Amino acid sequence: MSISKKDVIANYLPKRTEAGLKAEAFAPSNIALCKYWGKRDVELNLPINGSLSISLGELGSHTSINESDTGEDQVYLNDELLEPDSKFASKVIRFIELFRRDLDQPITVRTVNNIPTAAGLASSASGFAALTLAVNDFYRFGLKKEHLSAFARMGSGSASRSIYQGFVEWHLGVRTDGMDSCAEPLAAQWPGFRIGLLKVATGEKKIDSRSGMQRTVESAPLYNSWPKQAANDLRVIKEAIKNRDLELLGQTAEQNALSMHATMIGSWPPLLYWQPESVAAMHRLWELRASGVQVYLTMDAGPNLKLIFHSESEAQVRDAFPELMDVDIVAPFG
Ligand code: DP6
Repeated sequence: MSISKKDVIANYLPKRTEAGLKAEAFAPSNIALCKYWGKRDVELNLPINGSLSISLGELGSHTSINESDTGEDQVYLNDELLEPDSKFASKVIRFIELFRRDLDQPITVRTVNNIPTAAGLASSASGFAALTLAVNDFYRFGLKKEHLSAFARMGSGSASRSIYQGFVEWHLGVRTDGMDSCAEPLAAQWPGFRIGLLKVATGEKKIDSRSGMQRTVESAPLYNSWPKQAANDLRVIKEAIKNRDLELLGQTAEQNALSMHATMIGSWPPLLYWQPESVAAMHRLWELRASGVQVYLTMDAGPNLKLIFHSESEAQVRDAFPELMDVDIVAPFG
């Protein structure tokens, strides 16, 4: 039996939550190079494997929390007031409840995602990370970063990594309350390391990552090999980052992503996030690589590609993919 989020969080908060003041926070979006796919505990979002990502600098979510002036909780997304029972608003309020407890203080939460819709990136990671940071300031909890990462993880697993910039590892952890399953930034610097976002298809995805990974864990025979592969990939990717070895990093990250997709395809009912345009873009990338350009791909639970390369190859990559959105990864790369 899993411990509830509420009980875990309560162990780390003061006895009572005091009325909050104004707070604002930002958290970046992140792209996993070694993917998180599968949970050992669904309530706490504890992963079956460790993962590693790169945060996207200034692309992410800005979240503010204020005392509500209408006497009701209110949630705005990109300046639009949401219906209280909409999916997004109820997720936000349910998360706030874990920290507000029995304090009677209605609040207004405003989230603005500066990730252009054209980039085709999900925003739950940066959204829950920014919300967790804002909650910590609003209620003046003064929690440690690793605890904030563990709390953000309870909102969405990948949000644990969005607490930090740069290369970030999310540790598997062993504790039943999951508090050691939190992210940690790597000390590594890699000037010129680039991520490009390639949006190839539009439209809401029908199966979100949460249900997609559950279906894979429950029905894909191929999933048996995933935890071992991911553990090995994680080790190799850390080594590649340390040595700034793009070939080793790119190969391992690409194989990791495609292996994750192989487990999804082998689920029942099958789960294929790729569109014909995704496959066409993969071939285009492989041709470019065959011509000598070091460029690699990764993909998440959707049809779009994320390209991994070094700024030295930027001109060739742009030539082959004029529609590419290049991400300026700021800290810690300067
Ligand atoms: C494919 O973090 O969105 O992007 O924990 O259920 O909210 P929940 O899932 P989520 O899954 C992300 C899956 C992924 C890989 C990754 O980011 O590591």
